[in-house]
Amino acid sequence: MTTPPPSDPPDTTRRRWFFAAGATALGAGFAGGVAATAELLWPTVSYEPPRRYAVGRPETLPFDRPTFLPEHRLFVLNRGDGFAAVSAVCTHLGCTVRHVEGEGFVCPCHGSRFDLEGQVRQGPAPGPLPWYGLSLSRRGDLIVDERHLVDPGYRFLA
Ligand code: FES
Repeated sequence: MTTPPPSDPPDTTRRRWFFAAGATALGAGFAGGVAATAELLWPTVSYEPPRRYAVGRPETLPFDRPTFLPEHRLFVLNRGDGFAAVSAVCTHLGCTVRHVEGEGFVCPCHGSRFDLEGQVRQGPAPGPLPWYGLSLSRRGDLIVDERHLVDPGYRFLA
């Protein structure tokens, strides 16, 4: 006569089930914590200023002097034959240049000078001030697109 193999007592099976459920819950909690930490490290919100923005209706921009927009560090020029957008960020180390009537632009940090087209007249700035593309929105606002560089002297007819 043979005896059946001993089976686990019911108490042991239940203990294994609780152990597996606990380990699964712990693993899920750990994975959720890792995912939440990763989301903190790579936020989906950009705090960079927008690179395409409206600067107002063309007829509101003065004809006789550049309009300085400090929040964008930009000059908008209205020269009668069209509009232009010129960066006010010095190409040396990034200071904000100032407009000087009849001369062009001067950097207060290390003395670079730029002509009215943003070309370097005196260093140490290594290159000209960038010019940006312009367009008109449906509402009639002038739109600057910093992602679109244009040649100095470019004019946008609005
Ligand atoms: S940052 Fe303009 S000259 Fe140095």
